[in-house]
Order: sequence, then C-alpha cells, then structure tokens
Amino acid sequence: MTDTEFGQVRTLMRDVSGIIMAPHKKQLAAGRLIKRLKALGLASFREYVQLLQQPDQHEERRLAVDLLTTNETFFFREEAHFQFLRSYLMDKGGAAIKIWSAACSSGEEVYSLAMLLESLYPGQNNWSLIGSDLCRHVLETAQQGIYPLSRASAIPQDMLRRYCLKGVGKMDGFIQMQNSLRQRVSFRCLNLNTALPNDLPFFDVIFLRNILIYFDAAGKKSIVSNVISHLSPGGFLFIGHSESLYGLDLPLTSCGSAIYFKEG
Ligand SMILES: C[S@@+](CC[C@H](N)C(=O)[O-])C[C@H]1O[C@@H](n2cnc3c(N)ncnc32)[C@H](O)[C@@H]1O
Repeated sequence: MTDTEFGQVRTLMRDVSGIIMAPHKKQLAAGRLIKRLKALGLASFREYVQLLQQPDQHEERRLAVDLLTTNETFFFREEAHFQFLRSYLMDKGGAAIKIWSAACSSGEEVYSLAMLLESLYPGQNNWSLIGSDLCRHVLETAQQGIYPLSRASAIPQDMLRRYCLKGVGKMDGFIQMQNSLRQRVSFRCLNLNTALPNDLPFFDVIFLRNILIYFDAAGKKSIVSNVISHLSPGGFLFIGHSESLYGLDLPLTSCGSAIYFKEG
C-alpha cells in the first residue's frame, strides 16, 4: 500500500466513522484489508482503493470500515465503573433505569452490565439495556453471546455460575450467556458519527468507552454531543479511563474517574 492509497483509506475511515487513523497505522490497515483484495481477486491496493471510490460501492466501503475498526473489549473492563454503577443503582432503590452501551463491540460490556443489573434486580423488569456499534460483524457475536472460555476469567465466579452456560461437545471451550439474559438486551447498528435515529430513547446511563481515543478533538466533541443528546439530565456518561473530555466545553461535570454527570 502506497502512502497515497493509505491516505485515501484514511479519508474513507474519517468520513464514515469519524476515526482519524494515525499515519503509522499503514501496515495495520494493509494487513486488515488484504483479505478483501484476496476475496475479490484484486492484484493491488490501487485497484481496491479505486473500487472503494466508486459511487455504488456502499457495501464494500462498509466492509472496509468494519475491517479497519479496532474492536478490543473484555468483560468487566475498568471494574471501578461497575462499582460506581452498583452504588448508584442501590441509591436509586429499584427505580426504572435505561442504559446504553454506545460502542459495545462484541457485547462483553453489555453482558457485564446485564449481569450486574440482573444480580441486583433478579427477575425484575425495571431495567433495559441496549448495545450498539458501527461494525456489523461484532454485533453478530454480541447477539449470539458466545465467547471463548478464556475470556470469562474476569467474570465474578457467582455470575459465571448464574448467567453463563458452559459449552459441551463442539462448544467445549466456550461459554454462552444464558437465554434469559440475552432476551433482556438488544443490539443495533448505529454510527455515532451521523444523526441518531428518532426512535432512540433517552438514557439514564451511557457507556461510551474506549472509542474516543480514535478521534481528534473536533471529532470527540461531535461524537460526545451526539451521544449525550440522548442522555437524560442528571444522567451519567462513562468514558474510558485513558480518555478525556478536557477543554471540550460540553454540558457535563466530572464526578469520578472518567465519569461525567449531565447538567439539568
Ligand atoms: C475498542 S472498542 C471498545 C468497546 C467497549 N466499549 C469497551 O470499552 O471495551 C471501540 C468500538 O467503537 C466502535 N466504533 C468506532 N467508530 C464508531 C462510530 N462512528 N460509531 C459507532 N461505533 C464506532 C468500533 O467498531 C469498536 O467496536
């Protein structure tokens, strides 16, 4: 991949997702896109980039962006956030709560939240939880709720026993989130870099973690503004511990490590 071709790929990524790919990510981008060249029988990145630029190639552009996103995630990532949420929920004393995991990748964050909610409110209908992501292939994994057993080590033992099924036979080495939990959550494909759909409700809590690192200041401000337009006044926004909203002039007040409160 030449620098010019990488420049065109970066432009596509920025225009669709808002993500700014760092200049040193050329090799990474080439490694991720090479499978599309092979699948399409193309001999060079030049041909692939030309294809991506054709007006009718929406699906190919979507596939390329899917491949270029970084989807790393794990159960109970940044555990302090779950402790904060537990205390907040206990203070709310069972009042109804709506939570959105706005860049949920393959679903581990959503199921961590679902296990926490279900452990606090067993069998109750006072909570709802949705996960969304731009990338379709991770959402398929999220919907299935099947993960390698090796990823389950961060799940507290009592939750693992109560909410996860251990695979047998050809599913040996995997866990699946229990049906009853899977039925309580929903997933949808949403691009946070575009206007959000009208049917998206307001939420009391939004997780927007480990996505902002991929944006420049203007992109970060635009994504966060978009997302918090669906956060109820008095609600909480959680971002990743290595991320910051410093200097962005948003109607949010910091109230803990990477936790913000939306002013009324
Ligand atoms: C590194 S993962 C973080 C997953 C999870 N929130 C966590 O903290 O473990 C970042 C996710 O953001 C998604 N993403 C990137 N740009 C997006 C956009 N414009 N709209 C929605 N999701 C996006 C990626 O597809 C990826 O799954």
